[in-house]
Amino acid sequence: MNIAVVGGGHRCRKLIEVIEKHTFYAINPKIVAVADEKPDAPGLLRAKEKGLFVTQDYSDFFDRDDIDLIVELMGNNRIYNDILHRKKESVRAIDHETALLFWEISRVSNMHEVTHQALQEEMAMSDMVMNELLEEDVLTIGSDYRIQDINTNLLNKLGLEAKEVIGRYCYEITHHQQVPCSGEDHPCPLVQTRQTRKPSKTTHVHLDKNKNEIYYLISCYPIFKDGEVTGAIELSRDITKDITLQKVMMQQEKLASVGRLSAGVAHEINNPLTTILTTAMLIQEDVEKDHPIYQDLELIANETLRCRKIVTSLLDFARQTNPERKYSNIKKILTESILLTKKQAAFSDVSVIHRFSDDIPDVYVDKGQLQQAFINLILNAAEATPAGGTIAISADFAASDKTVEISVSDTGEGISSDKTDKIFDPFFTTKEKGTGLGLAITHGIIERHGGTVNVRSRPGEGTTFTIRLPVNGGDSDAR
Ligand SMILES: Nc1ncnc2c1ncn2[C@@H]1O[C@H](COP(=O)(O)OP(=O)(O)O)[C@@H](O)[C@H]1O
Ligand SMILES: [Mg+2]
Repeated sequence: MNIAVVGGGHRCRKLIEVIEKHTFYAINPKIVAVADEKPDAPGLLRAKEKGLFVTQDYSDFFDRDDIDLIVELMGNNRIYNDILHRKKESVRAIDHETALLFWEISRVSNMHEVTHQALQEEMAMSDMVMNELLEEDVLTIGSDYRIQDINTNLLNKLGLEAKEVIGRYCYEITHHQQVPCSGEDHPCPLVQTRQTRKPSKTTHVHLDKNKNEIYYLISCYPIFKDGEVTGAIELSRDITKDITLQKVMMQQEKLASVGRLSAGVAHEINNPLTTILTTAMLIQEDVEKDHPIYQDLELIANETLRCRKIVTSLLDFARQTNPERKYSNIKKILTESILLTKKQAAFSDVSVIHRFSDDIPDVYVDKGQLQQAFINLILNAAEATPAGGTIAISADFAASDKTVEISVSDTGEGISSDKTDKIFDPFFTTKEKGTGLGLAITHGIIERHGGTVNVRSRPGEGTTFTIRLPVNGGDSDAR
């Protein structure tokens, strides 16, 4: 549709620009001519620039064959009437006011377009934050516990697609439960946020597929609509690593302080114990074997020896000195440790088997200390295993992280989950004659070698302790 404009003011110029920029669907408008009395009118100049037909007298329009519509933008009724009378019948005409009406309508719809675009940008932004920037798992939940939105992080973890999740209950999806979370161990953060209308935080403990504990820190933020809380955004973060690190640090601190205390006390006790022991033995020499006192002195000597054993363990435990290291053959240390403990195992009719891989390199360790750590584990295994059981010892090399992995497994009584946290504590023992120092010492030794000790156990089915030792013994200067 070819348009001629009468009146070359600002509105005319704008019209030329708008038509230039926009794609039209129903019609194809094109401005072909502009008329204005003033030769410097902005619309006229713009038209001239574009090479359109320009004139100072709109009468010129009536002779032309290329015009379908004349738009009167002067706001002059007399001119509009004149146009109506003089134009060809096939040519249409719009007056200034009608033009203005369409102008307004188009402006309003343009504004809608702008807000629509802003909304889309905002949505794209929140999508990026939710799915790419946040490391957390994110859920948007309505106050009816139904999931409204979920991020890809969480979807990947769940192995589900958004359409399988949206509209379902949050507890159903994340906890496989039929009712909302509750109780002290599993408080529902949504309930709290709804009641207080404020953000809330909780931790949940979940079990992964290997039954390991995973700790989640859950933050819940309310969503308001007309002053009502209509739902919440729930962010959860796996903080298992932080918790584990915290536990390790607490354990280290505990060991260090107990170690210092023990060292002091053990030194003080060791000398008087020796005096008691030798005195008891000296008196015994002067007493006939069938004398009633002889048995009592025997008891004193034996019990004093037991005390000395405890004191020696305490001193070992307290020996927080840095290990004296050399590159040593782990297989050899293990074989010697097995030899030294075999008597005890054989005594309780437990067999000891071992499997060492061939590729284990020498490890930068203090041989004596490491032997002590292995012996502690093997003795514990022997003590926990009933007659007919087996202790299996293995050593492997993980080339990828340059670590030697040693494990001591038994088929014994196992450790209940409420105790696994405590067994490395000094003085924790479930044995009548135990000292509770074996594992604390082992832990300390392995730690000083830059390694870790882990325990996996099922009550009634046995226990496996696994030591991981870096080949350089945790000393980056080594070799
Ligand atoms: N292999 C094992 N099987 C079952 N329980 C074990 C095993 N090793 C250690 N424990 C538990 O850990 C506790 C602490 O062990 P430890 O520190 O060596 O002290 P102690 O042997 O003197 O009791 C033991 O009393 C026992 O309850
Ligand atoms: Mg022990």
